Amino acid sequence: MSTADSLVGKHVVVIGGTSGIGLAIAEHAMAAGARVTAASRNPARHAGNVPAGIATEQVDITSPASIEAMLDRVGAFDHLAMSAGATALGTVRELDSIAARRFMDTKFWGAYDGVRAAADRIAKDGSIVLIGGIASRKHGPGRPTMAAINAALEAFGKANAVDLAPVRVNIIAPGLVETPAFDDVPVDVRTRLLTQYVASVPVGRVGLPEDIASTAVFLMTNGYATGSVVDVDGGVQLT
Ligand SMILES: NC(=O)c1ccc[n+]([C@@H]2O[C@H](COP(=O)([O-])OP(=O)(O)OC[C@H]3O[C@@H](n4cnc5c(N)ncnc54)[C@H](OP(=O)(O)O)[C@@H]3O)[C@@H](O)[C@H]2O)c1
Repeated sequence: MSTADSLVGKHVVVIGGTSGIGLAIAEHAMAAGARVTAASRNPARHAGNVPAGIATEQVDITSPASIEAMLDRVGAFDHLAMSAGATALGTVRELDSIAARRFMDTKFWGAYDGVRAAADRIAKDGSIVLIGGIASRKHGPGRPTMAAINAALEAFGKANAVDLAPVRVNIIAPGLVETPAFDDVPVDVRTRLLTQYVASVPVGRVGLPEDIASTAVFLMTNGYATGSVVDVDGGVQLT
């Protein structure tokens, strides 16, 4: 077994690792034997959710200096997962470019700066996992900004699999996953969204954070996987 096949003794850093998909990645990596650092803007706010055994760090991915300082503080690491960013909903009539840019600044440029900061710090036999989203290729109303951000992330991740080799770079494109990201969505809108999704997708349910987390651990530990975009979406593209 090559060292890439196991997370035992590895250090996994998860940006956006204090909630939702990122938190599940942190938990799964820890369960697979890794030492884990979960970073976000306000880790104290999520303290009750992050299990003991996962170290937390403060970082704001809209600031390259903040990312670099956080990675310097945590020291050597083997794998990085980037799972931060808000859902960018709204048609071009509803979101002007100033509002849309804020989503791009966080999710795309944040990932850019995360990958850039990791490039010369991450272990050569390690990997980077970017959380994109199936909105890149499954189009629906009110999602042009989300489509553009996630499509850009897929292209960016693949191109970096070439440039950063032997470090591997992979992308996961989740479908709808029930996470605290929807806590602020009005209950009726949220219920309608989830019900429609469940009714339309072949698997007949929405995604759980662990569906994405197990895929992230698979990509970290499969030394032959790089430049892959893995869709974990309940089959929504078939609908
Ligand atoms: N849930 C879905 O249906 C779904 C579907 C497809 C793709 N995704 C993508 O999956 C990723 C995670 O989403 P989620 O649903 O798990 O959301 P979530 O539960 O709201 O978690 C987001 C995480 O990112 C952190 N974060 C937000 N802005 C940050 C920043 N500027 N710098 C550092 N950390 C930041 C948050 O913590 P702080 O508030 O402490 O910063 C939190 O830990 C996002 O990129 C999202 O677009 C989600």
